[in-house]
Amino acid sequence: MNVYDSERMYELMQPHGYTTTNNYDDADLVILNTCHIREKAAEKIYSELGRIVPHKINSDKQGKKLNIVVAGCVAQAEGKEIIIRQPMVDIVVGPQTYHRLPELLNTISNTSRRIVDTDFPIENKFDELQKARINNNSVAFLSIQEGCDKFCSFCVVPYTRGAEYSRSVNAIILEAKNLIKHGAKEICLLGQNVNSYHGEYNNKTYSLDKLIMEIANLENIKRIRYMTSHPADMTDGLIKAHGEVAVLMPYLHLPVQSGDDKVLKAMNRKYSSLEYLHIIEKLRHARPDIAFSSDFIVGFPGETDQAFENTLKLVEKVNYSQAYSFKYSRRPGTPGSIMTEHVAEVIKKVRLSALQEILNTQQLDFNSTFIGKSLDVLIERRRKDKQLVGKSPYMQAVHILEGQYEIGDILKTKVLAADKNSLKGDSIQLLAGANN
Ligand code: 5AD
Ligand code: SF4
Repeated sequence: MNVYDSERMYELMQPHGYTTTNNYDDADLVILNTCHIREKAAEKIYSELGRIVPHKINSDKQGKKLNIVVAGCVAQAEGKEIIIRQPMVDIVVGPQTYHRLPELLNTISNTSRRIVDTDFPIENKFDELQKARINNNSVAFLSIQEGCDKFCSFCVVPYTRGAEYSRSVNAIILEAKNLIKHGAKEICLLGQNVNSYHGEYNNKTYSLDKLIMEIANLENIKRIRYMTSHPADMTDGLIKAHGEVAVLMPYLHLPVQSGDDKVLKAMNRKYSSLEYLHIIEKLRHARPDIAFSSDFIVGFPGETDQAFENTLKLVEKVNYSQAYSFKYSRRPGTPGSIMTEHVAEVIKKVRLSALQEILNTQQLDFNSTFIGKSLDVLIERRRKDKQLVGKSPYMQAVHILEGQYEIGDILKTKVLAADKNSLKGDSIQLLAGANN
């Protein structure tokens, strides 16, 4: 979501004469788009601000002005605290108001004023943002839903991103067509709770499966994905779509967080471990080759050794193709932060490495099953050494030895080698060219 928001901020600033640079010294404007999900992510911005400030002082000395903007969920959560901690910050803008950036920059131009804008505005951010997307990658993100009403007890998202909101089907189709026109072959539909999507179309409510079917009918779309889903919103219709929509990729990120029912209840996740496993089973029935990924939190308050063992057991049962795992991070304002029985950091550390060892083995095993087989790879970029890098339908990164191919091509690729993070292969056939 932050990658998407950053792209949109760039698109917003471009008509005002801005372009990108990798060098702070060349910049008139630095936007830090921030994440508040764990303490470590939130703290990172202060060290980065510390690196930017000398460049701002330098630019002041030369009679120029380097504006520093802190955007994203840390901005939303900490507001003016950011300016108190780092007075060189010019603007603090939350995820629901970044479309006002040009106006905010205009307000502070040639002054030493500071602005904090963390409203949840009445005007629709998406209506205000430029309709034409500049993105011309072969893979594009498209935000269809924002905010969350689930209130998992560890999570800041319902407070920083606000209540659930679904964009209209028309606006999404328009944006999807635009992305495809600019070369997108794959569209990843985004939302904090994407499968709770309920958009309007011709006065009818559209669920995510229906939206996917509409996008699948667009000309030249080759792949669709969506993330992140909540298990409680995996409807039978959506599960069925995995068996019926050919361009819906056989990979699903379905965070479970824990395999222990008591912990799941304390987390307010609204499903049991058995219910989660049942969903996995139904998805595998609909699409036998589907690969799963997940998020895990270890050391949630009250997690006993036995509870952690239950998570390991669930991991063994599902057999993930990849996963993300984190130590529980106490977030101010969430119900979890005031729970008793917090788990010691050393225990969290031990549990995290035990979990990651199993997940890493599963990931390597999954990748290794493809050696000697062929996979369809959508090319996303070319590395400096000329190798092509793309993704398999199962979200694996695939490196292909040099070839006369373009970004956006889909190549039938023979897998020669595999490690935990990627596959190496040789292209055998062009299945679909970037221009068709
Ligand atoms: N501590 C650790 N991990 C967290 N996540 C969300 N909140 C916390 C927290 N307080 C993880 C969850 C979520 C992912 C995006 O981040 O696993 O699915
Ligand atoms: Fe956070 Fe996801 Fe739970 Fe919403 S469903 S509160 S975004 S973890």
